[in-house]
Amino acid sequence: MTEHLQIAIDGPAGAGKSTVARKLADKLGYLYIDTGAMYRASTWLALKHGLSLHDGPGIAALARRTEILLAAADETSDGKIRVYVDGEEITRDIRTQKMSEQVIPVAALKEVREVLVEKQKELARQGNAVLDGRDIGTVVLPKAGLKIFLTASAEVRAGRRLKELNAQGENPDFEELLAQIKDRDHKDRTREVSPLTMADDAIEVSTDNLSIDQVVDKLLVLAEGAKRSAV
Ligand code: CDP
Repeated sequence: MTEHLQIAIDGPAGAGKSTVARKLADKLGYLYIDTGAMYRASTWLALKHGLSLHDGPGIAALARRTEILLAAADETSDGKIRVYVDGEEITRDIRTQKMSEQVIPVAALKEVREVLVEKQKELARQGNAVLDGRDIGTVVLPKAGLKIFLTASAEVRAGRRLKELNAQGENPDFEELLAQIKDRDHKDRTREVSPLTMADDAIEVSTDNLSIDQVVDKLLVLAEGAKRSAV
């Protein structure tokens, strides 16, 4: 019997999760599921339909009936996966600084989380997969074969975010970004529903002094170990 290997990568904003997770999935030939993109897509849907960003049942119903498609990144999507809702591409729209703020109340809605967690579990059942988010190792895939908790200091994360936004043509102030990162950390960790916590059986990896490729190499070694212990 072949068991699927599911790899959960959780951690705070800007720790490099999505880039690392995508590269790791590429190297392993696994499916990559960016769960943050699903929260962003649901926020986009709420805005499009004029719903309040606190309307749990309304946004959940919208998210349930909408196909949220995550497609592979390519050279024109800045390394980010492509995202479509009912066929409409929203890859860029969901990555703005404004959207990063608007998604916070939506990700705190219990009804929305229920719908998206169900979609995430279903996607992960399709085969070997790498999922990244806040609650993958704790809620979405409590039995994942490998759980990683990626961290980095707030300063390093704010610096990375600044670079990323500069590349998209946005020019926010570093101190403001740092304050936002700290605020998001606080909100992520203290929200009532699925707060960001490290699963007991997760391995913490600090990325402060490591390049993306060094982190990916480290995780590849851990993934090989997890594959061996799964057989
Ligand atoms: O890249 P960044 O961490 O800034 O954002 P993201 O991973 O795209 O996630 C967008 C938002 O969704 C953040 O506010 C997360 O707190 C939230 N999120 C969540 O609550 N649960 C997940 N599994 C993934 C993201």
